[in-house]
Amino acid sequence: MTKLLAIESSCDETACAVVEDGCRILSNIVSSQINVHTLYGGVVPEVASRIHVENISAVIREAVEKAGTTMDEIDAIAYTQGPGLIGSLHVGVQAAKTLAWQFHKPLIPVHHLTGHIYANRFVSELEFPMMALVVSGGHTELVWMKNDWDFQVVGTTWDDAIGEAYDKVARVLGLGYPGGPIMDKMAKEGKPHYKLPVPKTASPFDFSFSGLKTAVLQLVEREKRAGNEVDPADVAYAFQETALNSMVSKTVSAVKEYKPKMIVLAGGVAANSRLRQLMQEKMQEVPEVKLIIPPMYCCTDNAAMIGAAGYVAYQHGCFGDLEAAADPSLEMPGEKY
Ligand code: KG4
Ligand code: ZN
Repeated sequence: MTKLLAIESSCDETACAVVEDGCRILSNIVSSQINVHTLYGGVVPEVASRIHVENISAVIREAVEKAGTTMDEIDAIAYTQGPGLIGSLHVGVQAAKTLAWQFHKPLIPVHHLTGHIYANRFVSELEFPMMALVVSGGHTELVWMKNDWDFQVVGTTWDDAIGEAYDKVARVLGLGYPGGPIMDKMAKEGKPHYKLPVPKTASPFDFSFSGLKTAVLQLVEREKRAGNEVDPADVAYAFQETALNSMVSKTVSAVKEYKPKMIVLAGGVAANSRLRQLMQEKMQEVPEVKLIIPPMYCCTDNAAMIGAAGYVAYQHGCFGDLEAAADPSLEMPGEKY
């Protein structure tokens, strides 16, 4: 039995968890800064790192207490090394290094996106080869995993990430931050009133969302100029249907081409109710491939997922040291594109 303490602070959640054998969560504490960043309409990096500094000790203490363990019983410290906001990452990295030094524990640096992917380990054993659709505020990627802990990005966004596009469209509609969950709810009330251009890319498994975002902006301005009232629910519906149908179709095409045993959803946007539904519907075209969707509590940033990925890194002997620094543009292990 291997017990990892995991720390995540790459953006605006200060998080710590204790995870056993990469699949049993003993504690999972997340302190969100959303209330503060909402005042500014988005994450303010300098503010985020200051709040991490204020909260991280209490979050770590709570995670250890809730797990009913002590630092002596922890086998290693996993932490998010990148990618993310440099100031935010530094706080988690420094906390992990301090604990490792004080308690003589090995360090395991973890790539944030591998955490999102291995969050699916809380639902099921993973089967390889596997495809992951990683959709978050900073990434939209199709990751091909021939084997465990082997990552190859086979599709990516040419411009905005899907979560970023959700947040920007929400801002245009005056819906507040973070826009994704608000748009998800609002789109349920929307009618198919507007038609938006389907995103196009030359490569079949790549994505693009900035043209769609601009089209929403132009639509809203055009309607306003014409003196028409714009129902934000209808716009949210049109944006969501266009963006998600295009993204899911590409994913299903990639699944048909690569023929994995399993496809997993990963990242904050995996919490989107329509995306979860569409994946279930469209994956019926390839019934031999298992679809795994992570539980809501580990779609958005948390440390349990870092513990899940950290355990696999631990098994592969991927240890770090006290010289390690945060890397805001860290690449996934074995990443080639
Ligand atoms: O993974 P995450 O917590 O942080 C990053 O690693 O980026 O993802 C945050 C992103 C934000 O853009 C947020 O708007 C989006 O995930 N998001 C959603 C939903 N819940 C969170 N987007 C669409 N629908 C949702 N229900
Ligand atoms: Zn994330």
